[in-house]
Amino acid sequence: MILLKSPAEIDKIRASCKIVRRTLDLLKSKIKPGIKTKELNIAGEEFIYSQKAQPSFKGYMGYPAGICVSVNEELVHGIGSERRLKETDVVSLDVGVELDGFFGDAAETFAVSGKISGEAKRLIETTRVSLERGIEQAVCGKRLFDISAAIQACVEKAGFSVVRQFVGHGVGLKVHEDPQIPNYGKPHTGIKLKAGMVLAIEPMVNAGSWEVDILDDGWTAVTRDRRLCAHFEHTVYIGDKEVEILT
Ligand code: MF3
Ligand code: CO
Repeated sequence: MILLKSPAEIDKIRASCKIVRRTLDLLKSKIKPGIKTKELNIAGEEFIYSQKAQPSFKGYMGYPAGICVSVNEELVHGIGSERRLKETDVVSLDVGVELDGFFGDAAETFAVSGKISGEAKRLIETTRVSLERGIEQAVCGKRLFDISAAIQACVEKAGFSVVRQFVGHGVGLKVHEDPQIPNYGKPHTGIKLKAGMVLAIEPMVNAGSWEVDILDDGWTAVTRDRRLCAHFEHTVYIGDKEVEILT
């Protein structure tokens, strides 16, 4: 069941999403060669707690960390560790916040320095733009898989592939709500988008083939071919006239 949110609920979700945004901005400023990935997790958790909010992924289905920190071939759900970032690495951060029972969710992939490969730069940029293309379709009256198809077209045009195993989702009153939002699909199909929907749109893109595996920690998703991947996510609100990016 897809929950439509009232203006009062949107205000609460917007406040939660603001903390998500500020957490990502803070962590971005800390990404430097030599930092341990667990230091990013700790800094993110501490900031969220300082805002009287909770990192919503912590303990979710047993996930052990507050922030998902995923490096290079790690796509999502990485767990911060003693690993130190190198100047040629790319790092994806996924942040979920609960504030007074309302949830926001966003992710970004960053270059640790300007020394990442040309392919890595193109992959990050393509994934970022594919999220923009998806959000452009998140308009009242269009259909759910218009979002999916726009993301897929952008990614495949660049010669990259869209992950199948993970999808975007409704969000706001829980970490994950209906509908599921695949990053591939047929335009003009799927449910009609309505004012009041809040969606977490999150393209996950692999440089090589789309398959992923889960590591023995039970969480970290990595590309099967161990090539690079990228992940961008925003929480968006579909209004009567336009879409608002809340994160
Ligand atoms: N980052 C995921 C999402 O965007 C959720 C993380 S689930 C967790 O939907 F278990 F890893 F916390
Ligand atoms: Co999400």
